[in-house]
Amino acid sequence: MNWLNLSELENLAKKQIEPTAFDYIASGANDEITLNNNVEAYKKIQLLPRRLSSNANPITKINIIGQDMSYPIIIAPTAFHGLANKKAENATAQAAQQTDTTMVLSTLSNTTIEDAAQSNANMWFQLYIFKDKKITLELIKKAESSNYKALVITIDAPILGKRERDIRNEFHLPNHLSIANLTEHMQEAELGQRKSASSLEQFFKEQLDNSLSWKDIDWLSSQTKLPILLKGILHPDDAKLALQAKVSGIIVSNHGGRQLDTAISTIEALPGIAKIINKEIPLLIDGGIRRGSDILKAIALGADAVLIGRPIIWGLADDGINGIKDVINFLRDELKQSMQLVGCKNINDLTAEIIRKTTNQDT
Ligand code: FNR
Ligand code: LAC
Repeated sequence: MNWLNLSELENLAKKQIEPTAFDYIASGANDEITLNNNVEAYKKIQLLPRRLSSNANPITKINIIGQDMSYPIIIAPTAFHGLANKKAENATAQAAQQTDTTMVLSTLSNTTIEDAAQSNANMWFQLYIFKDKKITLELIKKAESSNYKALVITIDAPILGKRERDIRNEFHLPNHLSIANLTEHMQEAELGQRKSASSLEQFFKEQLDNSLSWKDIDWLSSQTKLPILLKGILHPDDAKLALQAKVSGIIVSNHGGRQLDTAISTIEALPGIAKIINKEIPLLIDGGIRRGSDILKAIALGADAVLIGRPIIWGLADDGINGIKDVINFLRDELKQSMQLVGCKNINDLTAEIIRKTTNQDT
């Protein structure tokens, strides 16, 4: 491992990934303000450590939706791991298995649902909802029969955000890659390989249901016994509706700044949502987490676990399975160090008492 922090790793990954693919991974929507704020907002939060708390061995174990996890770190669903490494999501799933980490497989993976499950990692499936309900139902059935343990429904992408780098690059998948779960249903031309001003944007427009409502969440719940988590909540009133919809969990997310630019950074959205959720269901968060102390802050402000997006892809590009393991171990080590330095014995006991209150923070 030849990097000391994730920003060094990003620079190494950049050398391994084809430039338009790197732009796709790195980019945010429009002016990339939310993308940058996700990271910057963590830096502004100051910690208030406790002393002499005798915590030589901090406990990081958690249990969410009935699943034991050794650390509160989950691999976020990100599309097209084949852009970073030939083994694509198969490598990511193996790294997840070897580190006892839960992985969320994207609908838009380059590896099929069934193949990624061969790893025997704890797998969740991220579902995009298609206009054609048959496709949606088929994906759910495949996830169920391949032993996936939850469905993550992404609700912040009725259309794809406007990513200027992708438009400029006419981003499309290289010929050797496909959206593996959809090849039975679609011609190559529909699968994002067509060269146009961002073929992914076109794919979303043509294939995905852009009129989703809370009724569709009820419908989905009636179609599966798997726990459902809603990914993309930012407004406290939507957190209320999620409780009413009786979902198993929510993920505070702005899609890594890739959808609505100038949307609130996730860590700033978290406290208001935590107040509403009031520990009734698991509350997860992603976006901009680059240090173990970021994870500590998210948990202190009400999250049960975090998801990591881009850094996993950087690790995959840098050194395959081992590169992802390095990223996970790096975050775990730093989380433990931060717990020791802040005086926290058990991650489940963390509260906002270790966060300095400021007037613009709704804690
Ligand atoms: C994503 N994200 C995403 N989310 C989702 O629900 N389905 C998907 O297919 C994808 N695809 C995707 C591709 C790439 C390249 C990125 C960077 C992101 C969003 C992802 O799950 C997560 O919300 C963010 O990546 C979290 O932010 P960080 O950790 O990347 O800052
Ligand atoms: C993205 C989609 C695929 O963010 O979720 O690129």
